[in-house]
Amino acid sequence: MGVKLVNITKVFPDPHHPGREVVAVRKVSIDVKEGEFVTFLGPSGCGKTTTLRIISGFEYPTEGEVWISGKLVNNDPPNKRDTSMVFQSYAIFPHLSVSQNIGFGLELKGLPKETIRAETERIMSVMNLTNLANRRPDQLSGGQQQRVALARAIINKPSVLLFDEPLSNLDAKLREQMRLEIRKIQRTFGITSIYVTHDQGEAMTVSDRIVVMNEGNIMQIGTPFEIYSRPLNRFVADFIGRVNFFEGTVTTVKEQGISVRFTHGVERDVDSCSRDFRPGEQVLVVVRPESLKLFSKGSDSKSTGSTVNKDSEGVSSKTGQAFLEGRIDKVVYLGSVCEYEIETGSEKPVLAVTHNPIEEGFFQPGDFVGIDFTPISAHALPQNG
Ligand SMILES: Nc1ncnc2c1ncn2[C@@H]1O[C@H](COP(=O)(O)OP(=O)(O)OP(=O)(O)O)[C@@H](O)[C@H]1O
Ligand SMILES: [Mg+2]
Repeated sequence: MGVKLVNITKVFPDPHHPGREVVAVRKVSIDVKEGEFVTFLGPSGCGKTTTLRIISGFEYPTEGEVWISGKLVNNDPPNKRDTSMVFQSYAIFPHLSVSQNIGFGLELKGLPKETIRAETERIMSVMNLTNLANRRPDQLSGGQQQRVALARAIINKPSVLLFDEPLSNLDAKLREQMRLEIRKIQRTFGITSIYVTHDQGEAMTVSDRIVVMNEGNIMQIGTPFEIYSRPLNRFVADFIGRVNFFEGTVTTVKEQGISVRFTHGVERDVDSCSRDFRPGEQVLVVVRPESLKLFSKGSDSKSTGSTVNKDSEGVSSKTGQAFLEGRIDKVVYLGSVCEYEIETGSEKPVLAVTHNPIEEGFFQPGDFVGIDFTPISAHALPQNG
């Protein structure tokens, strides 16, 4: 059954300009299936929280329909909707112990003491909180408090869990740990979940599907793979991860993909397209940094010499001509990967990432490299749109 939004629009009066309006959310439609984990991702102010508040009933839509578990709930207040919200600030009671906090919702419902105890113990055991049962919130770490808040939301067995940036108060390491934990718990209980974040790594880790929003509009709905590797437009390609854009013109349309003549004259095949193209159309080809292959073309006199122990490996050897050539400008060595900015004479440097530097070696600033990619790792978008 899940959650269905049909053409949701929310217009607020503009607090700073009387008589004017702010369109926070514009014609948002999505069908979240039962048990699915869907994340709304986008920059600050794009309408994520507003959408979530419309689902929970804390805000009413100006237009459109909200369906929860097959029921139209537009006019139902929050307590009549089968949802539970987990906030960024944990909203747990400071004067109650962990177990009292978790059991609180069931007490409100007037369930028998024995049932409350059994349910609380079960949830605490699943969520690794049993040892902390008698502590007060001020005796817990941030991550533990967040687990208590999550346990408190889950014990009511809501049909839908709603999360608004629940991890943004935690430090980076704990945030990564909690992401996995939230995902595991969501799978264990099979609760339909809608999650809001502006952190793309978080969205990629926890979600079955991601809804990318910008200025109140949905830009794309897709699996993490689709959003990252097969973006629908420039905004999504740019917002998620790091990216290279290469401009060109379609020369041939093939059974699988297209051939593109790039602005610097070189032609390459591109397997994936965001829509059908015709010969002559202008396209923007997206290639992620880790999909670029680099091979040595020597080094300039200033360089201390390359640590790369192999030269021309890769795609270009077929044609004899690299897609691009350039000079390594910046090198960031991160242990497991090496990141490069490469000057190629165009406005922006080309970004490349290579893996396993210990085995494959890595380039130094000043080295000259050939740059290429395979058709499968390239994805074409329309240039205007
Ligand atoms: N009560 C309100 N009155 C007027 N404008 C509002 C109100 N609530 C939100 N807005 C506006 O609606 C837009 C969307 O806000 P929203 O809080 O949904 O963004 P968000 O995506 O959650 O951003 P963030 O990542 O910063 O939390 C913003 O331009 C915001 O200023
Ligand atoms: Mg928000």
